[in-house]
Amino acid sequence: MSNNFFEARMNELYGLIQHHADLYYDKDSPEISDFEYDNLVKELKELETLHPNSARKDFLTHKVGGRPSELFAPVVHETPMLSLDNVFNNEELVNFFERLKSLPSLRGGAEQSEAEGFFPSGFTCEMKIDGLAVSLIYQDGIFVRGATRGNGQTGEDVTANLLLIDSVPKRLKNPPAGRVEVRGEVLMTLSRFEAINKIRFDRGETPFANPRNAAAGTLRQSEKNNHVISERGLDIFLYYLVDAEKQNIFKQSDALEWLDAHGLPVQKAWARCEDLEAVKNFIAQWQEKRFDLNYVTDGVVIKFDDIYKWKEIGETSHAPRWAVAFKYPPEEAKTKILDIKISVGRTGVLTPVAWLDPVRLGGTQVQRASLHNAEMISQKDIRIGDLVKIRKAAEIIPEVIEVDKTARTGNEKIFEMPTHCPACGSEIVKLPDEAAHRCPNRASCPAQLKESLKYFASRDGMNINGLGNTLAASLLNSGKVKSLGDLYDIKKEEDLIGLDWTSYQDRKTGETKIRKVGKVLARAILSEIEASKGRPFVNLLTALGIREVGKGAAGLLVEEFKNIDALINATEEELSSVEGIGPVIAESVYEFFRNEENLKLIEKFRALGFNLKTEDNFIKENKFDGKIFVFTGTLSSMTRSEAGEKVKALGGKVSNSISSKTNYLVAGDKTGSKLSKAEKLGIKILSEQEFLEAIE
Ligand code: IVH
Repeated sequence: MSNNFFEARMNELYGLIQHHADLYYDKDSPEISDFEYDNLVKELKELETLHPNSARKDFLTHKVGGRPSELFAPVVHETPMLSLDNVFNNEELVNFFERLKSLPSLRGGAEQSEAEGFFPSGFTCEMKIDGLAVSLIYQDGIFVRGATRGNGQTGEDVTANLLLIDSVPKRLKNPPAGRVEVRGEVLMTLSRFEAINKIRFDRGETPFANPRNAAAGTLRQSEKNNHVISERGLDIFLYYLVDAEKQNIFKQSDALEWLDAHGLPVQKAWARCEDLEAVKNFIAQWQEKRFDLNYVTDGVVIKFDDIYKWKEIGETSHAPRWAVAFKYPPEEAKTKILDIKISVGRTGVLTPVAWLDPVRLGGTQVQRASLHNAEMISQKDIRIGDLVKIRKAAEIIPEVIEVDKTARTGNEKIFEMPTHCPACGSEIVKLPDEAAHRCPNRASCPAQLKESLKYFASRDGMNINGLGNTLAASLLNSGKVKSLGDLYDIKKEEDLIGLDWTSYQDRKTGETKIRKVGKVLARAILSEIEASKGRPFVNLLTALGIREVGKGAAGLLVEEFKNIDALINATEEELSSVEGIGPVIAESVYEFFRNEENLKLIEKFRALGFNLKTEDNFIKENKFDGKIFVFTGTLSSMTRSEAGEKVKALGGKVSNSISSKTNYLVAGDKTGSKLSKAEKLGIKILSEQEFLEAIE
């Protein structure tokens, strides 16, 4: 293949990696799994080695990730906070050992005989914690400063936030004199993560993608919001004593003991390993055992135990050569399908969901997997009672990869899509060109209504805080809301008080409890509902839940049609002629506005004073409402008739002569008698520049 191909692929990888790194480091909200990200980086590194001339030396993969944000004061790390190089299999691990062996400083020497092998001091193997790296500084045993890694050179000062984490010692045991820096990982335990995500889901908030993001998002809170740090309960493990020699510590294994002896939490999952064989054993042993830990680990960090030699072994710009991270492959698990149940979505699509015999996967308890549609079930020949292999796709949603047909007993049941909706009993339809089965009862199927209401209130929609899954269900079950419009008939606190709001897990007993809406919350939700009337038109259009129309398509439609009436009256051709709107969306929008119930809903919203046109259109259209403009002289930036069009577009009128009714005279160059007449009548005179500013 030509060099051009590789260059193009490298450019593509630079773009992709940058995009995903921004999501991961800056927004704490990744779209792909760490495994997929690592694979992109690995591919890029290979290509860069083969085509060094096309490599971007200053690209982020040559630096330590994460940029310090504006929210916190910068902290320059006295000793840079490095990252680690990864290895993904035994062969790469052996290469790491071979490289160490080849270093002259590790060969021979007075303290090392042939019989002892190359590495008399051995290694430590520690689980690689998937959290957020931090540095803590203690002065005479008192915690004085904490910082994130940032870009490795400069991090963020998060002292105030770290003080809110119970497991960060504020005072060390047996306080060491002077300044001591230790490093480790802030994390969220799996049990906390699961409990918090459940609450977020119930409240209609987006659940965190994984415990790492939850921890990072929580730690990097502004002062205003830092109460969530104590509420969410973060934890910390330390693994690195900076300048250990100053404490008379010369081995990493001793450093871990030192940390522990001074009251700094150290994970239990580590061991000293003599040689490559022992390291391999540790890796194999923990591959499964790590799922018994209450925190996420994604590999094993192998460190040369002899700290004395670290300086000689050295480091690259971003990682030490005396340590490496062995990354485990993404996990798969085997479990049994106990049942296949149907979930009815917002648009009536029936999704078969596998209810699994609970297994731990990716650190969380997995009980369900989406089976997408009937076609996929028959393609993979998935039956109730089957033993299946599952894997986490994009961190959260597990997928069924394959069926273990050798484990079949003959008692497995073939799944059939129901003929009637499990929520409302309507007859299910299946269009020949669609994979999906649908419940056609959009108007009153309770399952669809609940999902629609949740979506209506979501952030991209009307952004009604506090209205999530549980409250949506109880509003519908109580009969207080029967369709979206009814939400705005709720006016009294009593209408909400006593409804289920969210469920949560009791910290002590582990029981699931329901929190009901009280007076304070009722008042807050009412004001959220009221405030939602003023959301931009694009949010309303998204909130309507028109099939195929998410925030993106809604944005395109609003930009083109500006207001609801233009949209209602648009033909399918006009709709599909908008760039980015294809025939499927066009048909869906067209059909939506042909439905009486939908049009009634819009009339209700109109009567309630919702924004049914774009904000900027709204201002501009009314800006010159009824105002009469007269022009005199020549304009340099446009012709008089163009200027007249602008005035009309903004709701104004143009006249040829000055009268007492004239509101503005726009005076260009070489003005005539109109100017003096206007002056006499006290009419506001605008220069061309002022006029241009007014129409902006
Ligand atoms: S040692 C100079 N030990 O993984 C090397 N790092 O991907 C210092 N990590 O930057 C790192 N568990 O944030 C070390 N037991 C462990 C770790 C660990 C997690 C993190 C750390 C590091 C990153 C590299």
